[in-house]
Amino acid sequence: MKKILITGGAGFIGSHVVRRFVNKYPLYLIVNADALTYAGNLENLTDIEDSPNYIFEKADIKDIAAISSIFDKYGITDIIHLAAESHVDRSILSPFDFVYTNVIGTVALLEVAKEKWKGEYKSHLFYHISTDEVFGALGDTGLFTEETRYDPHSPYSASKAASDHFVRAYFDTYGIQTVVSNCSNNYGPNHFPEKLIPLMINNIINNKPLPVYGDGKYTRDWLFVKDHAIAIDLLFHQGRAGETYNIGGFNEWKNIDLVNLLCKQMDEKLGRQPGTSAQLITYVKDRPGHDRRYAIDASKINKEFGWKPSVTFEEGLSQTIDWFLSNKTWLEHVTSGAYTSYYDHQYENR
Ligand code: NAD
Ligand code: TYD
Repeated sequence: MKKILITGGAGFIGSHVVRRFVNKYPLYLIVNADALTYAGNLENLTDIEDSPNYIFEKADIKDIAAISSIFDKYGITDIIHLAAESHVDRSILSPFDFVYTNVIGTVALLEVAKEKWKGEYKSHLFYHISTDEVFGALGDTGLFTEETRYDPHSPYSASKAASDHFVRAYFDTYGIQTVVSNCSNNYGPNHFPEKLIPLMINNIINNKPLPVYGDGKYTRDWLFVKDHAIAIDLLFHQGRAGETYNIGGFNEWKNIDLVNLLCKQMDEKLGRQPGTSAQLITYVKDRPGHDRRYAIDASKINKEFGWKPSVTFEEGLSQTIDWFLSNKTWLEHVTSGAYTSYYDHQYENR
């Protein structure tokens, strides 16, 4: 029986991975370790929090003693590592937070795994979730492959690049079985409204300006978060140790085109006149070091395992908007900060 430590499981992508594993694998024990930073929200997991194969542990991945005791308490057999500081704009303001969690936190986890799994590395997996941002920026053409040279430009991507290197170094040096995947921009339910898509949805609902950075022609490759969780499930079970896999949506959008599509879909759903929400679009000062274009070549995971996105962007975006419109309390709690007291309320007497 696998006893999987999922780090960062209260965050956006982590909560989808936790839900998938808890529901799909009743014989696995899923231990969600999360420090509950501003981005960690246990309200993302209320539907599965009482499942018999699920446990939440409030813990910081930098805290070797805390992670070691979780290993001992549950006999952790595998790790899916998602915990991170994840927002580029915050990394520009506070780079050290990114070094501490993304670099030192990852090395701390690797160290615990190295110690606890000593002598039996072949039967355990350390799966590290990373981003396409480590590859830097593309021009008008080309795609990131698994062989593309790392060239990070923001403190966020630099810290993720460093963590990826450490994970591979532990495979090469100590023989810890590792898998790394680098994914493009995710979107979907539970997305924290500081990132482009949920921020725009929230502002459209509230008739607030839609801040588009620079000329709006920056390009990202978008993937529905549930399709990322499916890919993670696949690579956790079938990925080859020591390998890297790119995951992407085959779905490039210029920011301004994406925001216009969002405005169109939301006008329809909110019963507004066509063109109403687009009037809120406001061009604002650019992000420093802003990468022009990201695009993933996901042919390796496609050829090896047949994985490809299951929904079109229009469908995924429509589902995402519907989720936000029918989960207004979640959005209110996130924007008001009320979600931070959920842990005390739910767990203080457990
Ligand atoms: P998120 O910011 O929504 O969630 C991060 C989670 O990690 C939060 O629950 C937070 O409380 C937790 N956390 C932060 N610091 C911690 C620490 N020191 N100890 C324990 N827990 C801590 O992030 P996300 O968007 O869900 O991203 C998850 C992972 O996927 C990250 O590693 C990120 O780099 C990667 N990724 C994200 C995207 C994307 O588009 N969001 C794309 C590719 C890869
Ligand atoms: P973001 O969601 O922060 O993801 P990342 O920077 O990791 O790709 O931003 C996606 C794109 O949207 C990026 O080009 C920056 C841009 N952006 C805006 O134009 N306005 C905004 O308010 C935000 C948050 C992002």
